[in-house]
Amino acid sequence: MKRILKELDTRRHDARLGGGQRRIDAQHGKGKLTARERIEVLLDEGSFEEFDMFKAHRCVDFGMDKVKIPGDGVITGWGTINGRLVYVFSQDFTVFGGSLSETHAEKICKIMDMAMKNGAPVIGLNDSGGARIQEGVASLAGYADVFQKNILASGVIPQISVIMGPCAGGAVYSPAMTDFIYMVRDSSYMFVTGPDVVKTVTNEVVTAEELGGARTHTTKSSVADGAFDNDIETLHEIRRLFDFLPLNNRQDVPQRPFFDDPERIEPSLDTLVPENPNLPYDMKELVRKVADEGDFFETQADFAANILTGFIRIEGRTVGVVANQPLVLAGVLDIDSSRKAARFVRFCDAFNIPILTFVDVPGFLPGTAQEYGGVIKHGAKLLFAYGEATVPKVTVITRKAYGGAYDVMASKHLRGDFNYAWPTAQIAVMGAKGAVEILYRSELDDPEKIAQRTAEYEARFANPFVAAEKGFIDDVIMPHSTRKRVARAFASLRNKELKNPWKKHDNMPL
Ligand code: HXC
Repeated sequence: MKRILKELDTRRHDARLGGGQRRIDAQHGKGKLTARERIEVLLDEGSFEEFDMFKAHRCVDFGMDKVKIPGDGVITGWGTINGRLVYVFSQDFTVFGGSLSETHAEKICKIMDMAMKNGAPVIGLNDSGGARIQEGVASLAGYADVFQKNILASGVIPQISVIMGPCAGGAVYSPAMTDFIYMVRDSSYMFVTGPDVVKTVTNEVVTAEELGGARTHTTKSSVADGAFDNDIETLHEIRRLFDFLPLNNRQDVPQRPFFDDPERIEPSLDTLVPENPNLPYDMKELVRKVADEGDFFETQADFAANILTGFIRIEGRTVGVVANQPLVLAGVLDIDSSRKAARFVRFCDAFNIPILTFVDVPGFLPGTAQEYGGVIKHGAKLLFAYGEATVPKVTVITRKAYGGAYDVMASKHLRGDFNYAWPTAQIAVMGAKGAVEILYRSELDDPEKIAQRTAEYEARFANPFVAAEKGFIDDVIMPHSTRKRVARAFASLRNKELKNPWKKHDNMPL
């Protein structure tokens, strides 16, 4: 008996060594944690339970029958984050470069099936040289099996991808189909074809970092939702993100103890909007002042900063925030901000997360670059996403709500539940200057008349009361009472029931 127990111990020890101490040292030398160390940082202490520790590949080509490493390059299992169930896979770069074999894929698929059955999120820690070259099509088939599971799990359980090393070729498409992608600065990259292929095909000379590093994907491509400086910080931030998310699409948002009075008054908000309507202000200040304990987990912070997206809590419950940011491009809606916000709104709606929208938007950005880029279709994504969302929707217009952008930003007409405005709100087809130039073109060479016309227009439309008279605004609220009014609104919507007509799926403007 003792011998058998000892054998188990030895086998476990060997499996834990992965590709061996030399390769573990090399991994550490690059400033990276090993696959197991990452799991330890991500999960609650001692909560990890592993599956398939001894699973090995079945390949016999290229001498592979002589090299079998238990676990086959990926560590899979389940554990908890602050007590809540999560399934995890962590690719082990020390074993065949973390490359994906048929059996490696089977291990990932097994925990994805478990996650779906038990209604818990999946977090994938990616660090891999891609398809296991020795296995050929068996490896490609393994990827496709994972892709198919990603697709079926989408909208059922949250899926989070963390890129902590190379991620290349078709391998990038599994993370691309998950809900969030986070990267580690300077040690991770994602691309469909690497720098060498790029040079051969397009003659461009580019480094791996420029082509697919964290900066590229958080600022240019928007493939990644955020990046952090090292493995430990990244994994801690993933724990923070996880805490905001429900476990699956049948559950309500998590509720946490809170130590912040929902009725808290914020007098400073009364002076947030400057007297001059052309001056900017920081919308993040409003978001933080409405949030419990000022805690805002922002997503895509470095991309399309003219719109803010992210999670806060109100009375301990998660709320998704979308807010125009007057500090950047005057908070205008354009292709990038529409895409960013649309995807966020759809995530919230899929997972029962109520949506809070702060509006200060001068309209859609004009110009050939926008039109040629398809702003009509991309803007429609946000319109579509808000209109189809059935979760509680509370909207506060702080200043401008002009033109089509007024309609788009969770207006009453798109089934907004509570539509509030601050007294500083201006709800109109366009700003006074533009309107007068169109309506009184014949008087344009008479500055006095134009000034009078502008004043008349402002008096009529540069306020929230015309919309309030029509019932499009439910109430004009004091800025200092925003947290209280928003908290009460969401509390009253906890049992909201709204269903869209049956359909196989919609045909949103992708
Ligand atoms: C098998 C692989 C491997 C792979 C790396 N290794 N990638 N083994 N299949 N795809 C092995 C190496 O042989 C090496 O083994 C160990 O992993 C570490 O690799 P190094 O090259 O020494 O590491 P490094 O210098 O850090 O470079 C990492 C790398 C490079 C950039 C990832 O290894 C690389 O370019 N690999 C090939 C990447 C690739 O082309 N993959 C296929 C992509 S196409 P030893 O024994 O020496 O430690 C694809 C299609 C997916 O993935 C399609 C899905 C639909």
